Amino acid sequence: MTLEIYETVDDIRAAVRRARTLGKTVAFVPTMGYLHEGHAALIRKAAELAPVVVVSVFVNPLQFGPQEDFDRYPRDIEHDKQVIEQSGGGILFFPSASVLTPPDLQITVDPGPWGSVLCGKSRIGHFRGVCTIVAKLFNIVNPDYAVFGWKDAQQLLIIKKMVNDLNFPIEIVGLETVREPDGLALSSRNTYLSADERERAPWLYKALSRARERALSGECVDVTTLRDDIVKTIAEKVNGIIDYVEIVRLSDLTPLHRVEIGNTMIAAAVFLGKTRLIDNVRF
Ligand code: PAF
Repeated sequence: MTLEIYETVDDIRAAVRRARTLGKTVAFVPTMGYLHEGHAALIRKAAELAPVVVVSVFVNPLQFGPQEDFDRYPRDIEHDKQVIEQSGGGILFFPSASVLTPPDLQITVDPGPWGSVLCGKSRIGHFRGVCTIVAKLFNIVNPDYAVFGWKDAQQLLIIKKMVNDLNFPIEIVGLETVREPDGLALSSRNTYLSADERERAPWLYKALSRARERALSGECVDVTTLRDDIVKTIAEKVNGIIDYVEIVRLSDLTPLHRVEIGNTMIAAAVFLGKTRLIDNVRF
């Protein structure tokens, strides 16, 4: 089946309506493009959930700060079309900035308190930008399901909360992070890493995984000790600048003093040269 491609709100709405009149359900994967195996896994999951799979590609200016990498964010729409087709996507929504973020846009979605912790502390306005664009996409695409990766755990949790609090009739499905064989989480931004940085980057996940193992085995459940150990490993092995390492409740992102098995997330962000790596473990 050839990929259907739509660039306007009216056209994508009409395509989804046609599918719905045939009684088909719709699963949606919103992306910023430069698709990799992690996105392919999200699209394959969407294809398991519904016969119609819509993927959007839109580099959302609202979620980038003024000093961030919006202009140099990698883009390759021809490659993206191939990944979407090969992974089971049937419809691509590829709007321009004037369609989704016209200059007179003034209403935005407040992400609530979860938007200003972890990544939200240093990326001011990031989650407002994410929620605003995802809410718009949900209203335009009108899916039954939307699939997001656990790599961006805070984003996934905030979107679930938004869908719950604002009564979007959509089921949010989370999919586990896809990793390179050495553990590095797949990310479009990995393309910024130099060869030397690429060698060191997997130590972020190794540090988080080791803390998870120590907590699960009962060897250490004290959050300060676990955190200090992670910070030490990152300083020695990743050799980047730590934005944050935090151990929080998965249920509400509040800080923990002792790990709560079943409700703990260790999340971290580290600058490695020009690349901001994020990762997390949950247990
Ligand atoms: O995870 C992403 O790629 C983006 O934050 C999203 C969800 C597509 C919104 O722009």
